[in-house]
Amino acid sequence: MARSDESSAPHTPTLPQRQKRNAVGPSLKDYVTVFLESKLRLSEFYQTTLSIGLLLMLKTTLLAAIAVIGLSSAVAEQTLLVGGDVIDVERGTTMKSQDILIQDGIITAIGVTGSLPTTEDTTRIDMAGATLLPGLSDSHVHLTSNSNWHGFRRLTISTPRAAIAGVVNAEATLMAGFTTVRNLGAPGFSDIDLRKAIDEGDIAGPRIIGAGQAIGITGGHCGDATVLPYEAQVKGRAADSPWEARQKVRENKKYGADVIKFCGTGGVLSPNTTINAQQFSLEEMKAIVDEAHALDLKVAVHAHGPRGIYSALQAGVDSVEHSSMITDEGIDLAVEQGTYLSMDIYVSDFILSEGEAAGVLEESLAKERQVGRVQRERFQAAFNAGAKMAYGTDAGVYPHGTNARQFSKMVEWGMSPMQAIQAATIGNATLFGREDQIGSIRVGKAADIIAVTGDPLQNVRELEDVDFVMKDGTVYLNALD
Ligand code: ARG
Repeated sequence: MARSDESSAPHTPTLPQRQKRNAVGPSLKDYVTVFLESKLRLSEFYQTTLSIGLLLMLKTTLLAAIAVIGLSSAVAEQTLLVGGDVIDVERGTTMKSQDILIQDGIITAIGVTGSLPTTEDTTRIDMAGATLLPGLSDSHVHLTSNSNWHGFRRLTISTPRAAIAGVVNAEATLMAGFTTVRNLGAPGFSDIDLRKAIDEGDIAGPRIIGAGQAIGITGGHCGDATVLPYEAQVKGRAADSPWEARQKVRENKKYGADVIKFCGTGGVLSPNTTINAQQFSLEEMKAIVDEAHALDLKVAVHAHGPRGIYSALQAGVDSVEHSSMITDEGIDLAVEQGTYLSMDIYVSDFILSEGEAAGVLEESLAKERQVGRVQRERFQAAFNAGAKMAYGTDAGVYPHGTNARQFSKMVEWGMSPMQAIQAATIGNATLFGREDQIGSIRVGKAADIIAVTGDPLQNVRELEDVDFVMKDGTVYLNALD
């Protein structure tokens, strides 16, 4: 059920205990082992003078201590989610009254309620009356951007400031039920460090597939477009030839990027760029894609205008972000190649209603007026033609944690709630190349599971306020009663 009063949500600790114990560092067992080894070495020296019995007692006690510690870490943490209705996104159906068994963060069994074997140590969580779904994912976010940092304000944001925002935004995103995000561009590889901090258990956040720094042309969107004059000599990360572009791809790989993002047209929010204009030649785009694929990285291109979209499709990108003015020919090519379209059809509402107050320049507002509605119409055309549709929102341009607002737009423009949910789960997982690990509630996959008390297949807006969030078997939110 959608909650209207945010403050009624129960307090959830930022970092569940289980994660803290996973933090890197020597465990008690390590200390005991070192202690025991030193004692055993000492024992050779003292053998003749100390009573053997005394030593044996010491050794036995220490071995027993190790056995207990070893046992407690060997005993799997088992959780049973009891009696919820489970949406099977792979089949497009709902399974009524199911139990899901989770061990060490992995789904180990699913069955009709009451049918799964458990022990008395199994933690049971009552899910009766709730609808369970795989954790949601968003194929296009910027965790290190805040939604009120537009226009001139952006000039005051340092990379450390952006990273700190990322900590807050990562938690908000996870609590909104988004357990995986693809972060398509961040200053100074701050998204990669964010990913590390989350994976090492320092902070709470979604799984991150990070692009690091996006690649653009001189003066281009995600290159070094700026409102500053020539004298300021802004040093961006622009690349202006196939080989420079390849070098940027290699550098991104070197600093930990999981995916490559480049900008193939101008943008709405970048100053002095034209949304219709292609950025990078086809030759440069091919170089980027070739280099990235050689390094086993997928490629996402930012593109609004038709020529840039078509060239990027020809170059073999894995997803086209925005795809705002994709032509019928572009859609055909995307369908033929199986290229994903990641169309952020909610964000326009935010930019046009709240953008000005958030600092968006008039120049950008004008571009958004040009592109917003067309993008929705092209979304409908692409979906009807059978293109693979990702769920990507550009959160960061608008507030993090409200990523689910796009569901109702996707339904308004032609999808069923199930199809929109499939895009945000198994669809995105396949685009990410992680369909073996995430994207559906299936035995062997990570226990990334969310729940709502209403039925999102009746009203997809239920997903705007989730009641339960589990990632890797750890519960981050449980507001079910
Ligand atoms: N980051 C994008 C850009 O600056 C935002 C575009 C948002 N507008 C839209 N209709 N999707 O181009």
